[in-house]
Amino acid sequence: MADQLLSTARYETLPLSYVRPEQQRPRLHEVVGDDNIPLIDLGGGDRARIIRETAEACRTYGFFQVLNHGISTDSMQRMMAIAREFFRLPAEEKAAHYSDDPSKKMRLSTSFNVKKETVRNWRDYLRLHCYPLEDFVPDWPSNPPLFKDVVSGYCREVRRLGFRLMGIISESLGLEKDYIVKVLGEQEQHMAINYYPACPAPDLTYGLPAHTDPNALTILLQDPQVAGLQVLKGGRWIKVDPHACALVVNIGDQLQALSNGQYKSVWHRAVVNQEKERMSVASFLAPCNTALISAPEKLTSGGTPAVYRGFTYAEYYQKFWSRNLDQEHCLELFK
Ligand code: SIN
Ligand code: FE2
Repeated sequence: MADQLLSTARYETLPLSYVRPEQQRPRLHEVVGDDNIPLIDLGGGDRARIIRETAEACRTYGFFQVLNHGISTDSMQRMMAIAREFFRLPAEEKAAHYSDDPSKKMRLSTSFNVKKETVRNWRDYLRLHCYPLEDFVPDWPSNPPLFKDVVSGYCREVRRLGFRLMGIISESLGLEKDYIVKVLGEQEQHMAINYYPACPAPDLTYGLPAHTDPNALTILLQDPQVAGLQVLKGGRWIKVDPHACALVVNIGDQLQALSNGQYKSVWHRAVVNQEKERMSVASFLAPCNTALISAPEKLTSGGTPAVYRGFTYAEYYQKFWSRNLDQEHCLELFK
């Protein structure tokens, strides 16, 4: 119900329904700040360098930030501003968009999957299907008045960047440039606009608990002022420092499978803080439902076995929603 939205309530203390059991708490003081995910400059003509740096980042971190990525800072700022404006709308207006049914193509919700989970997450989110835009935009919020224009413009730019990155990632694996986009078919595109209010007890709860992304590639626009994203590396959580002009990119489960396990869909989480609200805008590119995901022949020749069983994306996605977010990915190993 819409009265469960955090953005329409004020809490002085953390309600019990958000409190994690002792062993599952974020242990914020253990985060190390001296490592960071790689920053890759996509500008300039040195494709060999870009491919090399991408390969290294995907193998080692599963995450990287990109600069000179083709989406203007102005467009990023407008997207962030309209997202903030949306969450500042009056409660009644937001309530009209509320749903806890994950199959809906446009919905405002809270936590992750309130019908299934036992502990809540300190997050509200607006989730949108974004491709093809003409099928979905008519149902998007018409307030703020510029919402549809700004968000659909940003979605087009993100899709272009995502396809460009998939070309780079394909080549970085030694595959044809268009290998990944061909296998993924007519890709779906979704967006989660996340709003994490300031939290009375950030060491007891999460914005989003540790998870891997089920899709192929995620492009994240972070709040330029407030950090919160953390990535698991070598058993420690590392902070992803916000960078006003950069976008954060991560490998999802589908690219882990398509790279035959060479590239990692890495555990990450969003933590919250006591002082400031935080926003993020995650764009997800995913295979079409019928896409067959299995290791490319080129990566399994010469005695290297296929690591995972092949599957269709429809099968995968169904499994993903039938479990909890913080469980292991659903890739099945060949035994
Ligand atoms: C996500 O993992 O989808 C969101 C992370 C964030 O808000 O930084
Ligand atoms: Fe994620």
